[in-house]
Amino acid sequence: MAKDIRFFELNTGAKIPSVGLGTWQSEPGIVGDAIIAAVKAGYRHIDCAQVYANEKEVGLALKKLFSDGIVKREELWITSKLWCSDHAPEDVPGALNRTLQDLQLDYVDLYLIHWPVSMKKGSVGFDPENLTIPDIPSTWRAMEALYDSGKARAIGVSNFSSKKLGDLLEAACVPPAVNQVECPPAWQQTKLHAFCKAKGVHLSGYSPLGSPGTTWLKSNVLKHPVIAMVAEKLGKTPAQVALRWGLQMGHSVLPKSTNEKRIKENFDIYGWSIPDDLFAKFAEIEQARLVRGTTFVHDTYGAYRTLEEFWDGEI
Ligand code: A2P
Repeated sequence: MAKDIRFFELNTGAKIPSVGLGTWQSEPGIVGDAIIAAVKAGYRHIDCAQVYANEKEVGLALKKLFSDGIVKREELWITSKLWCSDHAPEDVPGALNRTLQDLQLDYVDLYLIHWPVSMKKGSVGFDPENLTIPDIPSTWRAMEALYDSGKARAIGVSNFSSKKLGDLLEAACVPPAVNQVECPPAWQQTKLHAFCKAKGVHLSGYSPLGSPGTTWLKSNVLKHPVIAMVAEKLGKTPAQVALRWGLQMGHSVLPKSTNEKRIKENFDIYGWSIPDDLFAKFAEIEQARLVRGTTFVHDTYGAYRTLEEFWDGEI
């Protein structure tokens, strides 16, 4: 029997379910049904963010799941993220309160700094004129206060390079529990993976399927010959193979889907595994970062003039 890898243990001692439903680009009108289908299929982890503009609808679905007795709050893992315009320490508690109100929850299991990027308070959208210079240690102190309050049972970051994560670890009293980053087989984050492992920070992988539906990313790792070959040999779908690879790498995976059939397919990755010889083939997949963060880089505004600077060379 293959090792199931249902959970990963965080540096807080909490167990994060290894597969979470992603909700980025899930339309508000359909995200609720996706969450209900996912929980009924066995998912116990939902990945949210204030900037996805659908947390109210997620909250309504959660409320229904609880009131219908399908699942209890304590059986679910809910993550949300602090947006860049709320980085000022005095704005951080209010941002989490808004998210909790929208999600209709008393606490989140994990609260992340969404990007190492700050924007003017109250700004919406991605106008470079709104970029400001981040002060991550100050924002982190406010995150630590949320952790101490119990409203965020674990705290962490997202889209941090090894360098930025290392700087934060130096400044932190409560070390980040998670760094959530893009991690499909076509962007394996080898250096960051090793760094996170050495520091006891769990890596959680977004866009684990390579975001095939995001047309501006122009990628489709699911069609890669290595993935297709492994899928065929194992009698699995390319998506299942990409996700199972993630679990065997040691990171949690956050596939987004609003389609019930694919939601179920993406959870059917336990009870079997990719054997070592086929697993080794993933090293042959050409590597390219998809979510580059170009919108956060500007030669006049903000903290980063180039992508090289933004990702500290991990590009
Ligand atoms: P849909 O929501 O219609 O299922 P990622 O999580 O890497 O960002 O990928 C999300 C994209 O992949 C969405 O466009 C989603 O579309 C699609 N997708 C989700 N699951 C599968 C699957 N099992 N096979 C193919 N495409 C999938």
